[in-house]
Amino acid sequence: MKKITRTLGVIASFILMLSLTSCYYDEVIENTNPPILDVSYAIDIQPIWNQFCVACHPTLEQPDLTEGNSYNALISIPGGIIPGNAEGSELMEMLRHDPNNPNPMPPSSPMSATNINLIEAWINQGALNN
Ligand code: HEC
Repeated sequence: MKKITRTLGVIASFILMLSLTSCYYDEVIENTNPPILDVSYAIDIQPIWNQFCVACHPTLEQPDLTEGNSYNALISIPGGIIPGNAEGSELMEMLRHDPNNPNPMPPSSPMSATNINLIEAWINQGALNN
């Protein structure tokens, strides 16, 4: 009798372990965002500037973020964009409204996570003028 109880106990813990493992995998799959592949500056990024930035840039303030001018204007700000290193790029702090950065952009409220993630992926993919 004792032996049967112990065997059942072992089986029960085995089933419990299996179910915990499967839950863990379900969660991992659900929480994985698909990587953003091949961001294009012209197709994906410039339209974001057009929608959220050109009202003030350059009319009110540099950099000039209009089409044809924005890439050179942004890339020439020291530390603003570090190709391959979004985390170290000051522009990302500005876009995330990081409290350590004095210039949140746009100043009113942050853009959607979708837009911010696109810009982050573009910088991490080398900040190309593509
Ligand atoms: C409502 C107007 C307004 C909007 C919209 C706006 N900006 Fe700005 N931006 C400013 C002003 C004003 C400054 C100067 C802030 C200062 O120097 O104190 C500035 C400064 C900057 C700078 C810093 C330049 C430097 O030399 O350090 C960058 C980069 C910038 N903005 C990018 C953006 C981007 C990208 C967007 C859109 C996502 C945006 N801005 C939207 C008004 C705006």
